[in-house]
Amino acid sequence: MTAYEKFSLAGKVAIVTGSTRGIGQGIALGLASAGADIVGVGRSDHSETKKKVEEMGRRYVTIQASVADPGADDMIIAKAVEAFGKIDILVNAAGITRRVMAIDIERKDWQDVLDVNLTALFFLCQKAARQFIKQGGGGKIINIGSMTSYQGGIKVIPYTASKAAVRMITMHMCNEWAQYGIHINAIAPGYIETDMTAAMRSEPHRMAETAPRIPMTRWGKPDDLAGAAIFLASDASDYVNGFTIAVDGGFLAKS
Ligand SMILES: NC(=O)c1ccc[n+]([C@@H]2O[C@H](COP(=O)([O-])OP(=O)(O)OC[C@H]3O[C@@H](n4cnc5c(N)ncnc54)[C@H](O)[C@@H]3O)[C@@H](O)[C@H]2O)c1
Repeated sequence: MTAYEKFSLAGKVAIVTGSTRGIGQGIALGLASAGADIVGVGRSDHSETKKKVEEMGRRYVTIQASVADPGADDMIIAKAVEAFGKIDILVNAAGITRRVMAIDIERKDWQDVLDVNLTALFFLCQKAARQFIKQGGGGKIINIGSMTSYQGGIKVIPYTASKAAVRMITMHMCNEWAQYGIHINAIAPGYIETDMTAAMRSEPHRMAETAPRIPMTRWGKPDDLAGAAIFLASDASDYVNGFTIAVDGGFLAKS
């Protein structure tokens, strides 16, 4: 196999949470374009992602669920294995935020964000890892972090707590699971134009602060994440483990 052929995902099966729109959709379409079949997990309408994946000749299995539901992790792995007989890749892109100042945040908002962005993510990693170990051939996990995996953020205190933890537990899981051939990395997107950032983009002073701080002088789009995801999901990244790659237009490079 040539170095370039190692980027192919032909014959691979990828679970992608948050695949219905935004970054998860951009990643699901990217993985499908490289040859993977997709098991999509999300609460909103899957029809657009499903149609686009199928237009590429790949299969798309819909799981309409919240990752935070009790038992969702076991159900997601079981449905993927039932449909395809195995899994090769897990992408944890489902995420939420609550835009409240730290001085005002209520316990429920704090907990809701932690439940989806951290607790559900960890247990899906754990259940996928158990399946990879059972299958015997290793596997690839990609968690979605954020600039707040590195920086404090503003008005997103539980989100910052969750995304900083995502970066650290990705390293921890690497330490324990690399021995099984499991590669677990994260992507830290910069400012990406999705529904999640619509409220922030509607605040002129926040836009005025952020845009000039991006060396590439533009916000990213969901398909800007696809290349890094294909790399981390493929054999091309077989000596990359435990790391969080920023896809941020250079944002973290600027102090
Ligand atoms: N947009 C950005 O600038 C940005 C930057 C850094 C990180 N991120 C992260 O990228 C990921 C995707 O965010 P986005 O901007 O595309 O947001 P989005 O709101 O456009 O999409 C979120 C996706 O997650 C799904 N989702 C949310 N809660 C869920 C739950 N409980 N169960 C199942 N699915 C659920 C939604 O259905 C949707 O598919 C999140 O983890 C987010 O924190 C986004």
